[in-house]
Amino acid sequence: MLEVLHHPLITHKLTQMRQNSTTTKDFRENLDEIAELMAYEVCRDLPTRPIEIETPVSKCIGYELSKEVVIVPILRAGIGLLDGIRRLVPTAKVGFIGMYRDEETLEPVEYFAKFPNDLEHSIVMIVDPMLATGGSANDAINQIKKRGAKNIKLVCLVGAPEGVQLIQKNHPDVDVYLAALDERLNEHGYIVPGLGDAGDRIFGTK
Ligand code: URA
Repeated sequence: MLEVLHHPLITHKLTQMRQNSTTTKDFRENLDEIAELMAYEVCRDLPTRPIEIETPVSKCIGYELSKEVVIVPILRAGIGLLDGIRRLVPTAKVGFIGMYRDEETLEPVEYFAKFPNDLEHSIVMIVDPMLATGGSANDAINQIKKRGAKNIKLVCLVGAPEGVQLIQKNHPDVDVYLAALDERLNEHGYIVPGLGDAGDRIFGTK
């Protein structure tokens, strides 16, 4: 499933982010705010269970989240989406994964991974701003599935058709959420029109 989350606030903030003249501070703040808005939609189908509660007036049945939520930013740009989602789901646990591709074997190498227990019964949100070729997201999903995760959502800001197709082909069970689906990748692997290198723009590196 692919869902592009069209909303005037998301579009407005993403337009600010895309602009070359936007400062690191404004880029990061807009990303943080979009992450929160996206989380509201991404969480729409979280399962709940009934619990009996007592209000000041009477007993009644309320509902609480019935599954653990685990947010997994792909290092390093994924960190930019973390706080906004955590504001909406403050009980979420957080895992991290960092990977690079071995230039000789072309195999993904995991250089850092730390996850909470029981991924198998959790809803795992893998987050990364840019879904370009889809290579890192695909590798991250493989690694997280190896550790037992069965319910995975991939949350990205901007996607290219190439990346979406790769994930849908290899992981049809993973729901993909985007704020925008852009035109294409250029010869350097950047999304067009995109917003440039998300990691550099979040952290002020070049
Ligand atoms: N990663 C980025 O940060 N930007 C792109 O356009 C593609 C991949």
